[in-house]
Amino acid sequence: MQIYDEECQQVGRAERRIDVGATAIDKGGYRHFMAKEIAQQPSVIADVLNHYVKGDRIVLPDGLDFREVDRLSLVGCGTAHYAGHVAKYWFEALAGLPCDIDVASEFRYREPPLSPQSWFIAISQSGETADTLAALHYARDHVSRTVGLVNVGTSAIARDSDIALPTLAGIEVSVASSKAFTCQLTVLAILALKAAHDRGRIGDAELAGHLAELRAVPGLLQQTLDLSDHCRALSEWLSQAQDVLYLGRGALFPVAMEGALKLKELSYIHAEGYASGELKHGPIALIDRDVPVIVLAPYDHLFEKTISNMQEVMARHGQILLLSDHEGIAAANDGVYATLTMPGGGNLFQPILYAIPMQYLAYHTAVAKGTDVDQPRNLAKSVTVE
Ligand code: AGP
Repeated sequence: MQIYDEECQQVGRAERRIDVGATAIDKGGYRHFMAKEIAQQPSVIADVLNHYVKGDRIVLPDGLDFREVDRLSLVGCGTAHYAGHVAKYWFEALAGLPCDIDVASEFRYREPPLSPQSWFIAISQSGETADTLAALHYARDHVSRTVGLVNVGTSAIARDSDIALPTLAGIEVSVASSKAFTCQLTVLAILALKAAHDRGRIGDAELAGHLAELRAVPGLLQQTLDLSDHCRALSEWLSQAQDVLYLGRGALFPVAMEGALKLKELSYIHAEGYASGELKHGPIALIDRDVPVIVLAPYDHLFEKTISNMQEVMARHGQILLLSDHEGIAAANDGVYATLTMPGGGNLFQPILYAIPMQYLAYHTAVAKGTDVDQPRNLAKSVTVE
């Protein structure tokens, strides 16, 4: 390979060996890479925590003092964009830091006015997505710091950001993202906690409490993996559907959108993720007994609101799959088609846990339909063109 610059002059680049262990590129006994990558989540998230959290301290590269920033712009595409959307809830609620979230393809051409004291965070598994890279290039002329949250440390977004934060998911082969998403969420949760602490919104004790909650996530994820068989059983029902609705509130709203994206890309079934409160502003017209509605409702301060939206669906004969914890299922399982019981209740980092059944429902539905799980039609792992 020879490399040339814009003037067609040949340039030299140092050779760098990338160490890819054999285990990274075989299916490890699973039928598909995606099944392997879903199952790896407890261990890769533990790796992320070990990397960024030492005892009760968050360890990040210099230059990430959140007292200096007045606003964040989070940008990504597809699943990475939904990770940023979850993080918006965390940054705003925990740190009181205003946060804008956008898809890179819109951000890059909108010429958004950006505060010179703001930071820009590009989120990308591959670090090569053309729109996200172009958004980063726009932002670096307007903000005080750019951060690249990337899984591939040698990528263009890692190189062109002021600070690159690895998401440490390991190689993700399946085109549909799974472990890269939950690792992005984990790094973003750590950043939001750092922001809250830096800005004096939480003290040392509260930070330690939240970090303890985060450290519990790998164990809870391990329990969540046990939902695979139940999701497989439900996939027979989902695979008959033409349309599926996913509903969530607060930080579970972007997870609902991620669930819908997973189902679309893997099983080719039309699906939409909606904020539960938006249902009556249009999508409720779609509801009949043939449209499964998947409701994400942890037993928290928003539970009653989401359940009241769920009841509106049931009154129109919609068939509900309710995902909640023990308390939530006990309180609201009357008349629903099926339930999936999630661990824990009210925990701030529920979006990381709820991602798992989203992945398994899509995965098993795709297997039931016989689609190409690891390489869905018309999709590429890394979208390096507009
Ligand atoms: C996720 O399942 C998709 N394949 C897709 O939305 C992906 O997340 C998007 O193309 C962004 O890719 P990136 O994270 O590599 O930038």
